[in-house]
Amino acid sequence: MKVGIGNDHAGAELKMEIVKHLDEIGVDYIDYGVAVGEKIDYPDAAEMVCKEVINGTVDRAILICGTGIGISIAANKINGIRACACSDAFSAKYTRLHNDANALCLGGRVVGAGLANELVDIFLTTDFEGGRHQRRVDLITKLEEKNRVKEQN
Ligand code: RB5
Repeated sequence: MKVGIGNDHAGAELKMEIVKHLDEIGVDYIDYGVAVGEKIDYPDAAEMVCKEVINGTVDRAILICGTGIGISIAANKINGIRACACSDAFSAKYTRLHNDANALCLGGRVVGAGLANELVDIFLTTDFEGGRHQRRVDLITKLEEKNRVKEQN
């Protein structure tokens, strides 16, 4: 499992904690985010990482902005990305089990490092349940296809 990490300026400090944690637990990652003191707008940070999920360079994304919300909204505009802003363990677990989420979004101004790292662990170790949930994820993919057709007309 290879993870791509993205963050804007409001997520840079939490990103450092998460990267430290990934090093400790031996998870491979590419850090596409900005360092503390640098700036980037969260839609650009989301795009940078999500395109690497779509082309297969990384398997999943961890995206961090101030709230986790802006970067999740941006990430979900990219076809094939299923991003969830999480600040509780139940959501992190079920967005993997039921939605096959491939991007975990965290708020650097919302969650502390301890909780964030727990959410990361859940997100990286919980498998998609498939079954009836696969049909629903397929419906999401169909929505993307419908919008693509609309854009062409
Ligand atoms: C940046 O200041 C902040 O607006 C951004 O990180 C994020 O919280 C937006 O949703």
